[in-house]
Amino acid sequence: MIAIGCDHGGFELKEEIKKHLEERGLEYKDYGCNSTDSVDYPEYGKKVAHAVADGECERGILICGTGIGISITANKVKGIRAALCTDCFMAEATRLHNDANILALGGRVVGMGLALKIVDTFLDTEFSDEERHKRRIAMIED
Ligand code: RB5
Repeated sequence: MIAIGCDHGGFELKEEIKKHLEERGLEYKDYGCNSTDSVDYPEYGKKVAHAVADGECERGILICGTGIGISITANKVKGIRAALCTDCFMAEATRLHNDANILALGGRVVGMGLALKIVDTFLDTEFSDEERHKRRIAMIED
């Protein structure tokens, strides 16, 4: 199960990502927001981060205007490694090296086509499971 959430700056992209996940037959849970009316990104960042940290969902996708505020918020939650990605190289590397469990996107930064490719790369890349990366990830939580 994929947790997905956004603020008003990410709402349109969230709706497109939901359609894409449905086309791929992937299940998601939408934590809002539900329109382009102005809301506070920390509310939605926290909801998705807790869903992932508590094990309710395996991965998360968060979108705000830049992806910055919502990723900063998510990374305050213990066990969350939220990665703001603007290209597929970053999405692949953060899965391989950081075992990132939340993808953050900027709805006002990346176009729809690129965003969907980033989502696919993030979801389809497994953690490398290499010792040096496991050690470094463990050090994050120290
Ligand atoms: C909202 O205007 C905007 O500040 C928000 O979407 C995000 O970019 C914050 O980091």
